[in-house]
Amino acid sequence: MHYPFWDQPIGYGVLMAVIAVFHVFVSHFAIGGGLYLVVNEQLARRAGDTDRLAFLEQLSKFFAMVTLVAGALTGVGIWFVIGLLAPAATEALIHNYVWGWATEWTFFVVEIAAAMLYFYGWKRLTAKAHLTLGWIYFVAAWLSLVVINGILTFMLTPGRWLVTGDFWQGFFNPTYWPSLVLRTGVCIMLAGLYALLVASRLEAGDFKARTVRQAAGWAVVGLAVTALAQAWYWKAIPAAVTAKALESMPTPIRAIMLSLWLAAALGAGVVALVILAPRRFGTVAALGFMTLGMAWFGAFEWSRESLRKPYILVGYMYGNGAEVAQTATYKRDGFLPQITYRTGDDGADLFRHACRSCHTLDGYKAVKPALAGADRAYILALIKGAHLLRGNMPPFLGTAAEAEQIADHLYQRTDHRPLAAIYPIDGLALGRRAYDLRCGKCHAIGTASDKSKSLVGQSAEDLSGLLDMASSLGEGMPAYTGDPAERKALVAYLQSLGLGGKP
Ligand code: HEC
Ligand code: HEC
Repeated sequence: MHYPFWDQPIGYGVLMAVIAVFHVFVSHFAIGGGLYLVVNEQLARRAGDTDRLAFLEQLSKFFAMVTLVAGALTGVGIWFVIGLLAPAATEALIHNYVWGWATEWTFFVVEIAAAMLYFYGWKRLTAKAHLTLGWIYFVAAWLSLVVINGILTFMLTPGRWLVTGDFWQGFFNPTYWPSLVLRTGVCIMLAGLYALLVASRLEAGDFKARTVRQAAGWAVVGLAVTALAQAWYWKAIPAAVTAKALESMPTPIRAIMLSLWLAAALGAGVVALVILAPRRFGTVAALGFMTLGMAWFGAFEWSRESLRKPYILVGYMYGNGAEVAQTATYKRDGFLPQITYRTGDDGADLFRHACRSCHTLDGYKAVKPALAGADRAYILALIKGAHLLRGNMPPFLGTAAEAEQIADHLYQRTDHRPLAAIYPIDGLALGRRAYDLRCGKCHAIGTASDKSKSLVGQSAEDLSGLLDMASSLGEGMPAYTGDPAERKALVAYLQSLGLGGKP
C-alpha cells in the first residue's frame, strides 16, 4: 500500500492475461524453435539434404523475428503491467530475485545475439561455426527458462523460503522441477506445431511427407512430456492448496480438465494425421493443431494463476497486496494509515486497496451487479465475510470502521431497489435470483458449501424461520434482510431445491 493505485476501467486480470499469455507463448516458441533448428540442421548437413536446409533457413527467419521483436517487447510489457497492477508483489520479487533477473537478462542478450547471427550466417559461415551458433542460441534460451522458472514457481509454492527467506530454497521450490520439465515439453511441442504449419504449405510430395512426419513426432513427444510432467506438477503442489481448489474453486479445476481434453484431442489429431495423410496435410489442419496447442497451454497457465488465490505470493502476500505478516497490524491500526497515497475519499481508497486489484465496479468481475438489490447491512456482512464467499478471496483485514467505509462506498454506487423492481421477474426465477444474491455467494449450488440438501422436506414456515435466525447459523453468515416479496420467492425456491427439481 506504499504505491499509488493505478485506477483504470479495465479488469487487471484481463490485461495481465492478454500480455502475459502472449509473451509466454512467444518465449516457449523461441526455445523450442532453437532446438528444432539446430537438431535438424545437424541431421540435414550429415545427410547432405539441401531441401531441408532451405526449409530450416526459412524457419530461422521467423524464430529470430519472434524472439527479437515479439519476445522482447512483450517481456518488457509484462514489467510495465505487473509494476502497475501489483507493485508490492513486483517489489517483493525484485528484492528477492534481483540477481535471478539479472542472470536471466544476460542469457536473453546472448540468445538474441546468437539468433541474429544464426540467421545471418546460413550462407556466410562455415557449417561448424553455424551449428555452434545454433547451439548457443538454444542453450542460452533454455537457460533463461531455467532461471525464470524458479521465480515463476516460487509464486505458487515458495516452500521453505517462507520460514528461512533463503534465495535457493525459494528458487528450487517444490514445483521447480516438474514445471521445468513441463515447460521444456511445451517448447518442443510448440516447435513441432509450428514446423507442421510451415510444412503444411510445402508442395505435396516426399519431402513434405517426411517433414510432416518428423514435425508431428516433435509435437507428440513434447505433448507426452508435458502430460507426465503435469501430473507430477499437481502432486508437488502442497495438498492444502489443491484440496482447497477442488473444494471451492471450480474455475481452475475446470481449466485443468479442459487442458487435459485439449491435450488428448491434439495428440490424437496429430497421430491420425501422420498415419492418414502426411502428403496432403493442409494449412487449415495445421492451424487447428496450433490453436489446440495454444489453448492447451493457455488453460494450464490460467489454472496455475488461479490456484494461487487468495494469494499473489502464496503464504506471503494476498492478491490485493496485503502482507500476511502484517495481519495483526492491519487489524489493529487498519489499512488507511498504511496507504501512502490517499485521495481524500477514504471509502474509495479502501475499496481500491482491498478489492480493486481483482474487481471493477461494473466491468470485469464487477461488484455492482453482484450486489444489485442488496441493502447496506448485507453488503457490510459480505465485506467482513469476504473469505467465506466463493472465489477464495483474501479475508478483509482492515478495522470494523473501515469495513463500514467500504460498505458506504459500495452502497452509494449500487442499485438498492427491491430485486423484483430491478429485474422484471417473479416466482421461482425471482427466488433463484434472491438465492444468488443472498446465499449463493457463500453456498454456490453444487459445490462443497451447498446447503440445499439439508433443507430437503422443510415447510415454508420452517424455511422462513431459518431465515429469521440466519445470523446464528454460522460464524460470518449474515442476517437475512430481504423484503417480504423477496423472502417469499426465496422460500419457494429453497423448497423447490428440496423437492429435487432442477432449479
Ligand atoms: C485476490 C482477488 C480478490 C480480492 C482482493 C477481492 N475479491 Fe471478491 N472475488 C474474487 C473472485 C475470484 C470472486 C469469484 C467471482 C468470480 O469468479 O467471478 C469474487 C467474488 C466476489 C463477490 C461475489 C460476486 C458474485 O458474482 O456473486 C463479491 C460481492 C466480492 N467478491 C466482493 C469483494 C470485495 C467487497 C472485496 C474487497 C473487500 C473483494 N471482493 C476482494 C476475487 C477477489
Ligand atoms: C457470507 C457468507 C454466507 C452467506 C451469504 C450465507 N451463508 Fe449460510 N453459512 C455460512 C457459514 C460460514 C456457515 C457455517 C459453516 C458451514 O456450515 O458451512 C453457514 C451455514 C449455513 C447452513 C447450515 C447450518 C447448520 O447448522 O448446518 C445453512 C442451512 C445455511 N448456511 C443456509 C444459508 C442460506 C439459506 C443463505 C441465504 C439466505 C445463506 N446461508 C447465506 C455463510 C453464509
